[in-house]
Amino acid sequence: MHHPPVTIQDKQFSIYIPERKILHSVEIVAARISHDFRGKDPLFLTVLNGAFMFASDLMKEVSTPCEISFIRLSSYEDMQSTGKVKEIIGLKEEVKGRHVVIVEDIVDTGHTIAGLLPQLHAKGPASVEVATLLIKPESLQHNLSIKYPALSIANDFVVGYGLDYNGFGRNLRDIYKVM
Ligand code: IMP
Repeated sequence: MHHPPVTIQDKQFSIYIPERKILHSVEIVAARISHDFRGKDPLFLTVLNGAFMFASDLMKEVSTPCEISFIRLSSYEDMQSTGKVKEIIGLKEEVKGRHVVIVEDIVDTGHTIAGLLPQLHAKGPASVEVATLLIKPESLQHNLSIKYPALSIANDFVVGYGLDYNGFGRNLRDIYKVM
């Protein structure tokens, strides 16, 4: 299939990971998760917006009974430190005693997941693991154990399949990288 470059605002992007390769990797991760969480009634927490397409395809392939929910992360200046802390918004489900799987679009520096994990652990889950569509191992700045990465990529900026550039490009069915 031919994939011409796409233009989003001021940048051009070229094909990087075609849909069939994405879906194949998603199937493999889903099979591992289904095996590991059999009988555990996992609670999948999808981080919006970027993970919506990954979550949809992943969940269709998960064959063990599970719950699926959606959260957002808000960003605010922490006055105590200079860093930014992203707080969970929209989590209605009881996490205590549950086997939680965070569903993310991409782990880049790891700041987001590193900030999210302690907030979830504070709620007393039975376990917390991370499923991510993409991981950029060269950019990772935290010692995180990401148990379910679908695809590892180089340190390139990518769009498509849920990922955006300034809010655009999420609808592309393939993943593109900046030229
Ligand atoms: P981290 O906190 O540095 O791991 O970055 C995580 C967030 O940054 C992701 O959830 C994305 O929203 C965004 N992000 C990082 N790299 C990319 C990229 O290549 N394309 C689009 N969004 C990205």
